[in-house]
Amino acid sequence: MEISFAPMKQRRPSWLALLVKGTTRRWGSVWQAHAKKIFFDKKYFALYPAYEIKIGGKSAGVIILRPEVQALVIYFFSLLPEFRGKGLGCKILSAAKKVAKAHNCKFLRVDTYAKFTSRKFYLACGFKKCGRVKNYNETDDDQIFLYKRI
Ligand SMILES: CC(C)(COP(=O)(O)OP(=O)(O)OC[C@H]1O[C@@H](n2cnc3c(N)ncnc32)[C@H](O)[C@@H]1OP(=O)(O)O)[C@@H](O)C(=O)NCCC(=O)NCCS
Repeated sequence: MEISFAPMKQRRPSWLALLVKGTTRRWGSVWQAHAKKIFFDKKYFALYPAYEIKIGGKSAGVIILRPEVQALVIYFFSLLPEFRGKGLGCKILSAAKKVAKAHNCKFLRVDTYAKFTSRKFYLACGFKKCGRVKNYNETDDDQIFLYKRI
């Protein structure tokens, strides 16, 4: 099944608000407010490039991919619930190599909250741990950084 990434640019699909709200609910109020800003305030759209993930032509979720020096940073990644738990997440990250190459990036990088389990997903996809930063965004907010060469 073909996986593709359509830049959202100024457009926002109707399902996005619910997906972002549902995804960030457990990340805390700071991230909830931040997500609202970066997804729905046009001033920030260029800074946080959002892509609609398409699988076999169907909308499957959203990913923000930011080129930073040699890294393509996965800044936000969420699949619509019906696409989760089917082994698609790792395939989508493999397909994101296309976006990385277009920006001349050499690796994918992501940071995850230490208190949540999402890093296990990235480890399962072949990412390696490269660091931990204390109080990265908020007090008591340790972030674990992971990367994967492409
Ligand atoms: C996180 C997400 C993108 C993963 O995609 P997915 O297609 O559901 O994941 P996969 O089916 O490819 O899972 C691959 C492996 O990661 C594990 N995994 C997936 N999500 C996980 C999580 N949140 N915590 C721990 N492990 C997880 C799976 O159990 C699987 O392990 P296995 O290979 O041992 O069976 C998806 O579940 C999602 O959109 N979740 C809600 C948003 C979210 O939490 N985003 C966090 C990313 S920063």
